Amino acid sequence: MLNEIVEIFKKSKSCVILTGAGISAESGVPTFRGKEGLWGKFKPEELATMDAFVANSKIVWEWYNWRRDLMNKVEPNTGHYAITDLESLCPDFTLVTQNVDGLHSMAKTKNILELHGNIYRNKCCDCSRIIEDNIEINPDNIPKCQYCGGKIRPDVVWFGELLNPQIINSAFVKSEKADLFFSIGTSGIIHPAASLPAIAKRNGAVFIEINTEETPLTYIADYHIESKSGEYLPKLVDLLTKERHSFKTKLLY
Ligand code: APR
Repeated sequence: MLNEIVEIFKKSKSCVILTGAGISAESGVPTFRGKEGLWGKFKPEELATMDAFVANSKIVWEWYNWRRDLMNKVEPNTGHYAITDLESLCPDFTLVTQNVDGLHSMAKTKNILELHGNIYRNKCCDCSRIIEDNIEINPDNIPKCQYCGGKIRPDVVWFGELLNPQIINSAFVKSEKADLFFSIGTSGIIHPAASLPAIAKRNGAVFIEINTEETPLTYIADYHIESKSGEYLPKLVDLLTKERHSFKTKLLY
């Protein structure tokens, strides 16, 4: 099947990759669902909603500081780097990620749409202005917005909140135009991200899912690859780059 995927990728002119927490699992970032998932240990309604922040912003900030500390200690894995390589091999490439950990940027992927924000960035909970300084937040003394006095919160999308309209619109447009769409390491249950594979497929894209297990997206996938992304993606890149080198060598003779 790997050879088939290589051929499909080589023909692709416009590729979109959607990633979820699974791509960062091999870096040591916990996923949300599954046996060891965060939502098995913590209640999302107490930590990842505006209501929770209004009711107890100290606890919410303690949780985000804990996650920031955890993410500060990790690095991109072979899956993130392989995606960067795939970007360099495709004429029109977009990475759409639900992850807030910034690991794709650290791995130097360029064209990234962060659907759910970025955990390192802060914004005002009232006027939504982005706070440019990367300030550390003391949960006992949460700083206030200098423009409106609202409390500072992490710039991530909480449950019940709308996504940044420009970012999600770009993701829709790119998915509609893609001839190849990968969904990698996402449980495929949180919308609108989970709608993107179907949009791509409806418009003629080949849809490939890479996940350690089946998901609700599996039944529409043209290929379901049951594997860790950090193991499978480097193999794909290896084959693609080997073929590219031998093609260049042929041209030289
Ligand atoms: N390689 C590939 N897939 C993996 C790996 C791996 N090494 N490890 C885990 N997975 C898969 C799991 O099988 C699961 O399907 O990654 C998926 C992770 O799913 P979730 O924990 O639900 O994460 P995600 O899909 O990103 O969640 C979506 O939900 O809570 C919200 O805002 C949060 O962005 C998040 C959104």
